[in-house]
Amino acid sequence: MASAVLVFLLCLTAGALTTVHGEDPYLFYTWNITYGTISPLGVPQQVILINGQFPGPTINSTTNNNVIVNVFNNIDEPFLLTWSGIQHRKNSWQDGVLGTMCPILPGTNYTYHFQVKDQIGTYMYYPSTALHRAAGAFGGLNVHSRSVIPIPYTLPLENDDFYVLINDWYTKSHSELRKLLDSGRTLARPQGVLINGQSGKTDGKGKPLFTLKPGRTYKFRICNPGLRTTLNFRIQGHNMKLVEMEGSHVVQNVYKSLDVHVGQCYSVLVKADQEPKDYYLVASSRFLKGEPMMATALISYEGGKGPASPELPKGPVGWAWSLNQFRTFRWNLTASAARPNPQGSYHYGEINITQTYKFVSSANKVDGKLRYAINGVSHVNPTTPPKFAEYFGVPEKVFKYDVMSITPPAEKITKVTVDTNIRNVTFHDFVEVIFENHENTVQSWKVDGFSFFAVAVEPGTWTPEKRKNYNLQDAVSRHTVQVFPKSWAAILLTFDNAGMWNIRSELTERTYLGQQLYISVYSPRRSLKEEYNLPDNSPLCGIVADMPKPKPYNQ
Ligand SMILES: *[C@@H]1O[C@H](CO)[C@@H](O)[C@H](O)[C@H]1NC(C)=O
Ligand SMILES: *[C@@H]1O[C@H](CO)[C@@H](O)[C@H](O)[C@H]1NC(C)=O
Ligand SMILES: *[C@@H]1O[C@H](CO)[C@@H](O)[C@H](O)[C@H]1NC(C)=O
Ligand SMILES: *[C@@H]1O[C@H](CO)[C@@H](O)[C@H](O)[C@H]1NC(C)=O
Ligand SMILES: *[C@@H]1O[C@H](CO)[C@@H](O)[C@H](O)[C@H]1NC(C)=O
Ligand SMILES: *[C@@H]1O[C@H](CO)[C@@H](O)[C@H](O)[C@H]1NC(C)=O
Repeated sequence: MASAVLVFLLCLTAGALTTVHGEDPYLFYTWNITYGTISPLGVPQQVILINGQFPGPTINSTTNNNVIVNVFNNIDEPFLLTWSGIQHRKNSWQDGVLGTMCPILPGTNYTYHFQVKDQIGTYMYYPSTALHRAAGAFGGLNVHSRSVIPIPYTLPLENDDFYVLINDWYTKSHSELRKLLDSGRTLARPQGVLINGQSGKTDGKGKPLFTLKPGRTYKFRICNPGLRTTLNFRIQGHNMKLVEMEGSHVVQNVYKSLDVHVGQCYSVLVKADQEPKDYYLVASSRFLKGEPMMATALISYEGGKGPASPELPKGPVGWAWSLNQFRTFRWNLTASAARPNPQGSYHYGEINITQTYKFVSSANKVDGKLRYAINGVSHVNPTTPPKFAEYFGVPEKVFKYDVMSITPPAEKITKVTVDTNIRNVTFHDFVEVIFENHENTVQSWKVDGFSFFAVAVEPGTWTPEKRKNYNLQDAVSRHTVQVFPKSWAAILLTFDNAGMWNIRSELTERTYLGQQLYISVYSPRRSLKEEYNLPDNSPLCGIVADMPKPKPYNQ
């Protein structure tokens, strides 16, 4: 009875509907993508709304749910959303990037169908097309644990669970920003920072974002969907107990503030145990020249008296602080995973590495215009998604595999080739990927389709001897990693998810100007046990638009 009421309420409130049969439940969402005008920094500007909302609605799911999102593109440009951190097992068709999908054309709709299989955690979605992320259309996506799986902390009550989306912001529209990049320039410094779409006032008069009941513990889900700026997040007068990051339960350290690099998410617990009055949430920029930019938002205590103190907690300075914080993040080896087994039961430190991939970033001019590259190759998307070309059996008509070497020379990379960057990798290989940053800025990398172990982030240049320093015990299994200036990061992962998967700089101007590649984890068996067929509702584009559909995969 209770569940029937819940279904009914969900229909009314969230536009979502749950059906419970033998198969995993479904959640349905219908999203209308439109332009709108709002003034996050006091200047009216064009943004992208989802069902009239900025940021977009939260997807609230539970492990193994089928998530159905029917996206109506009512802006005047081709559009896609990507679901950051959702692994899409066997299903790169739904990943929402131009290498594996044709975009949703203006005036049309596409229904994403994906399962949040064997995952838990705090995630987000954002647009992957044409700098649309600069205009909004991002939001939270959480995956709750199934009730049968124990969680290593007392779960806050249902409504005590908040998203805090923090991001840098420009007052120019996404098309103006795109023009800057197309003309060979950079985006330069953003104009401000937002918390859930607002920059906040520091006169203590704003409307509170959340109201806390004294004594209760709340979960804050903090994500940075921004374009390029690492942000430090803190709560005046309160500590944060980190419980989960990017899909893993972690050792529960207590932090006064957290550096959230672009594309990253954390779940923290916050106890309302202070004097009952108002407090500020603060998100401030890191690693930018000059004074940090910041956004504030108020939280208040129910029945509380008194405004927030105007004295805002200060953020940290320098990137060494951030590196040290990274080193405190540890996987909780005894906590349950999304399946009824401990997280640490997979001993990644004992597996032999089959291959080492080195990805060296560079920024260079090509024909007088700025491009960003990996190992000297700056990616461009062909009009036929490479995954479609492969599936239809005509890859050679669209791209060449392996134009980029995975063992770049030690010298500084000065030459840049603009090409479609697809690496053929071997299904089930256990590999090591080294991200090398010889530049002066902090980077943030994202791997779609997999979780990896972030075993080291260190200053200097990587050499094989550095493997001695890897954390082979309790590195966090996650899907992003930051690399500090003149530093490197090492990750370990198994290519156990067939499909074509995007590896990209999360810094959107870098992604847009070529700092990304795809790995093709090809399953030669063409079996449904390994990969799903191209969905029937997928739009087709490029040279495959008029080709007959290939024979479906076998059982
Ligand atoms: C989407 O919003 C636009 C603008 O408000 C409206 O004209 C259109 O009918 C809506 N479409 C759907 C499918 O709701
Ligand atoms: C577009 O939306 C309609 C429902 O309004 C749905 O029947 C159709 O399958 C959707 N198209 C795609 C390609 O998902
Ligand atoms: C790890 O998880 C276990 C099992 O839920 C829990 O008892 C323990 O307190 C957690 N350890 C830390 C250090 O957070
Ligand atoms: C989100 O889903 C969880 C688990 O089903 C539920 O307990 C909670 O009430 C939901 N929250 C919202 C805001 O719908
Ligand atoms: C890993 O490599 C070592 C040395 O080459 C070898 O002795 C060992 O059997 C390998 N382990 C596995 C699990 O393949
Ligand atoms: C990809 O690599 C595998 C071996 O790892 C090889 O058998 C296959 O032919 C390669 N495919 C292409 C298209 O290069």
